[in-house]
Amino acid sequence: MIPFVSSSFLLVGAVALLRAKKTLKKTGRKVFRVYVDGCFDLMHFGHANALRQARAIASFQTSTGGGKEGGDAEGGEAEVELIVGLVSDEEILRCKGPPVLPEQERVKCVRAVKWVDDIIANVPYELTKEFVEELFSEKYGIDCIVHGDDPCYLPDGTDAYAIPKALGKYREIKRTEGVSTTDLVARLLEYADASENTTSKSAGDESSGGKRSEKNERHEARFCTTASRIAQFAAKVSYSKTSKMHEETEKRKTDKKQRKNEKNEETTCCYVVGAFDVFNAGHVELLEECSFVADKVVCAVIADEYLTRDQTNQPPPMLNQSERAMSAIACRHCDDVVVGAPARLTDDICKTFNVTAVVFEDDDAVTERDRNVCEKNGVQILSVKERVFSRKKLTIAKRVQANRALFEERQKRKMASEKAYYEQKAFVAED
Ligand code: CTP
Repeated sequence: MIPFVSSSFLLVGAVALLRAKKTLKKTGRKVFRVYVDGCFDLMHFGHANALRQARAIASFQTSTGGGKEGGDAEGGEAEVELIVGLVSDEEILRCKGPPVLPEQERVKCVRAVKWVDDIIANVPYELTKEFVEELFSEKYGIDCIVHGDDPCYLPDGTDAYAIPKALGKYREIKRTEGVSTTDLVARLLEYADASENTTSKSAGDESSGGKRSEKNERHEARFCTTASRIAQFAAKVSYSKTSKMHEETEKRKTDKKQRKNEKNEETTCCYVVGAFDVFNAGHVELLEECSFVADKVVCAVIADEYLTRDQTNQPPPMLNQSERAMSAIACRHCDDVVVGAPARLTDDICKTFNVTAVVFEDDDAVTERDRNVCEKNGVQILSVKERVFSRKKLTIAKRVQANRALFEERQKRKMASEKAYYEQKAFVAED
């Protein structure tokens, strides 16, 4: 089959080629570049963990001298880059069924993951011989292709990664248990139904840790928030000098420094309070805005105990507090995360984090008590309006609900393949 190649794909290719050349010129050796492709629809912490592991593979290669020109010895700079190939909306529709989030939103979410150096948008679902050759050519300079340990088949039933496997340039990572786009779509449908009747306690009433509605079949698997996973997610990432992210982070640092000098500002901390349920492009936009105005962004992910239906008169979050926190930790615009924060601002929080500004995910959530605490502690309340993307999960849930029949059909197919995956699942070490 002829790969799907759009003009934006070619443009990104040209930019990547220039960057690859610049890499060689600047450093005299090439960074180890890992490629992960996918749909990354309703980008979740399982996807983020896949990207983290892929980057870890690259780091392992360079530290053991497996990189092209060997080692990470010079100056300790990370000489690895993670490139994500984002499958186009048309290709997802052709191979899997309708995507929930359009490409623009998927790009925003993937680009915000701290392990990602660059994105190639509009890639084909199928890793054809021609496309694989292009990836391994000087144009993209990819060294290996990575995917989770779940089998990935093309519509004709063949292995989507057969070509890189045959070339010995394929690496497998551990698929993260207990989360998938399929599962989130099911939860969104339940949520949309449940929020139509917020007084009813029948549908979608339990958060991910508890009993579930009988309507949707579920897998037994639950995400395990281990201490080591939190530590891996929280670790700082350094970018190679040629990475697009290196340019971006350096520019941000310089801009901040300049702003501070101009305003003669002390170090500032923006404390962002919210549920951050089903982390989305709107959340990325929110945290990014906060990172522009403060030196440090602390994301306070509200504890489950404050988000019960009794407390909010809304269906409880779809994901529990650790799951919600994992996505925030993976976001490059976030410097720290409180896992299970109080829903209200307190004097103690202001002092603990030296908060200078506070932002609520939902402006309407600010109470008189919050205002008093802010006034007492000299903390500014900032309102960050939605600009390009909505951060309300109901907006996303309604999209799924509006196409219920199509999504339910897609769900059936995916549930069957996920069931088969869990049945054959064996231990895979997680880097
Ligand atoms: N992935 C993972 N853990 C998950 C879900 C996905 O490691 N729980 C990995 C996949 O193995 C793949 C990458 O994330 O390498 C991108 O996956 P994607 O193409 O978005 O599709 P799916 O594998 O179908 O993921 P999901 O079921 O969540 O849609």
